[in-house]
Amino acid sequence: MEVNVFLREFWQKKPLFIKGGLKNFSSPFSENELAGLACEEGFESRLVIEQGKVPWELKSGPFDEDTLTSLPKNNWSLLVQDVDKWVSELSELKSFFRFVPDWRFDDIMVSYSPQGGSVGAHLDHYDVFLFQVTGKKRWSIESKARQKGDDAFLSGIELRQLERFEPDHEFILEAGDLLYLPPRCAHHGVTLDPGMTFSMGFHAPSYRELLKAHLEYCISQIDEDERLSDPDLQQAHHPAEISSATLQKVSLLLKQLSSAYEGLPHWLGVLLSSPKGQHSGGYGAVPPSQPYTWEACERELRSCPYLTRDESCRMHFIEQEHGLLVFVNGIEMMCPTNFLNFVRLISGSYVIEGNQVLDEIRKEPSCREFFLELLNQGYFYWNQE
Ligand code: SIN
Ligand code: CO
Repeated sequence: MEVNVFLREFWQKKPLFIKGGLKNFSSPFSENELAGLACEEGFESRLVIEQGKVPWELKSGPFDEDTLTSLPKNNWSLLVQDVDKWVSELSELKSFFRFVPDWRFDDIMVSYSPQGGSVGAHLDHYDVFLFQVTGKKRWSIESKARQKGDDAFLSGIELRQLERFEPDHEFILEAGDLLYLPPRCAHHGVTLDPGMTFSMGFHAPSYRELLKAHLEYCISQIDEDERLSDPDLQQAHHPAEISSATLQKVSLLLKQLSSAYEGLPHWLGVLLSSPKGQHSGGYGAVPPSQPYTWEACERELRSCPYLTRDESCRMHFIEQEHGLLVFVNGIEMMCPTNFLNFVRLISGSYVIEGNQVLDEIRKEPSCREFFLELLNQGYFYWNQE
């Protein structure tokens, strides 16, 4: 299916099952290796055991080997969040979904479950592509997104499972199949043959997040000693009353104070490029042990053909009339407009040819310092293969 047809007919509108949508992809890690990730510090992992100590027992990782080897034979799921931030081989899979702008992408969550494994019927506030990588899973879905507020959860369990679930479609996903679900479409997956599901999650900022960032910017523009003034004060009808004139005055003032939009590209770029959730402090691109000089960098660019962008690096840009705003993991860098081609190159793919970097720097030598700064913060590394 063509991308524009998908966007017009399905994106944020209705579910789509794509048989064999990614049939040539194979996972860069095995199910055992996924279990290994769930034992590591730094990964957010969960186990859902249908008949655990309590019904639908929820456990948070990191796990020890004993926990994972003493699980019941069936009816559980292991889920690991943000796997794409560590596994560079997933960049090809991420690239497949880049018809959606990078700022909407959140993470790849990987689940493994034996037969009967499930997390129950629920809904997500994300757009998600569920990709069956190995095994087989049955998905029952409600094809219409739920209204806001229509999501009463079952009480007495830790998981947010829906009290009422009325599926109208069912799909069996086998290796290579994809199911797109818009936000708030209730769904319930049950594993038929053991295997892994990759969930490509696309996040959008909430109204609260947007307004908070906007208002924080407006507040930063206001002198802290400025106050409500009332040289036009009228004698009070009743001393305890807050008059309608006061309400009107405050309402007008608030409109004026919150109308500072010149900061929008700056705070929006910072907000959309910031790592999310528990990783808001960053995943930690690792700076090189010895900062690169330009000579050393140039040598590497010549001898190692490929440069990889750190998996955790969220890089966006906004073109303005008099400059270019570049955002890397929540940090804003102001660049001249003539950096545009260079910035397009280094943010355009996850693996970049060293030669192309050299070419662009030859054309625009002032990009050199900018690139060195990113390199020395650990946002790029050489792919030794
Ligand atoms: C799963 O992989 O089984 C759960 C994914 C989801 O429903 O969001
Ligand atoms: Co879900």
